[in-house]
Amino acid sequence: MTKTELLYEGKAKKIYATEDPEVILAVYKDQATARNGKKKVNVAHKGTLNNQITSHLFNYLKANGVASHFIKQVSATEQLLHKVKMIPLEVVLRNLASGHFETKFAVPHLMQFNRPIVEFYYKSDALDDPFINDAQILALEIATEAQIEALKTKALLVNQVLKQLFDQLGITLVDFKLEFGLTSSGEILLADELSPDNMRLLDKKTQQSLDKDIFRKGLGDMIPAYQEVLHRIEDKEQNANVLS
Ligand code: C5P
Repeated sequence: MTKTELLYEGKAKKIYATEDPEVILAVYKDQATARNGKKKVNVAHKGTLNNQITSHLFNYLKANGVASHFIKQVSATEQLLHKVKMIPLEVVLRNLASGHFETKFAVPHLMQFNRPIVEFYYKSDALDDPFINDAQILALEIATEAQIEALKTKALLVNQVLKQLFDQLGITLVDFKLEFGLTSSGEILLADELSPDNMRLLDKKTQQSLDKDIFRKGLGDMIPAYQEVLHRIEDKEQNANVLS
């Protein structure tokens, strides 16, 4: 399937139409951004790594009962996706305190929560993606009550599946951000990407970050960490294939 018109260019991906009106094509870019695009540089190989990691994770989620917009990876930087109408919310799930939660509430780094926390942010570059609660989502008619509950349930399910996977890879899943879209029949599908750009991942042995915090905090080259995440996922898949 070939790409036609450029529909949208975001910070990390370009989205193209294809000859099938129900299918779009995402091209992962070699760009890293932080602080809502205020810090921005070109990082060679990031696009291919995030495309591969996202493809593996969407396939893994599908095999574990979580549907997404992902159809298949078609090249080093490209994947085909079901077209959905994006819900303008960032759904953040936290297992341990880090990032904004840690600074907002002045709690110890990696404080363990009794249960995972789901938070919503309104997707708006102009407003810097502000926190939004259920009542505000309803007031702005961004989602219905049933849709809000479905988003929470799906985020918790994604967490259950991915936390277990990363545990097996020697990685702690600290927190992550998801986005969802609506199909033409009204089904809510997990969308966007699942990469170390959108997750906090810690190596269980060294406690080193294996995610975009390396870039956000200026701790050095993020690429070896992203490669490490991909290698661990691929090794596990290869072992599973050998065993099956
Ligand atoms: O910054 P904060 O602590 O709220 O981030 C929580 C999680 O959501 C982190 O894993 C971060 O990478 C992700 N996130 C994201 N895109 C945003 C905001 C947060 O991927 N715009």
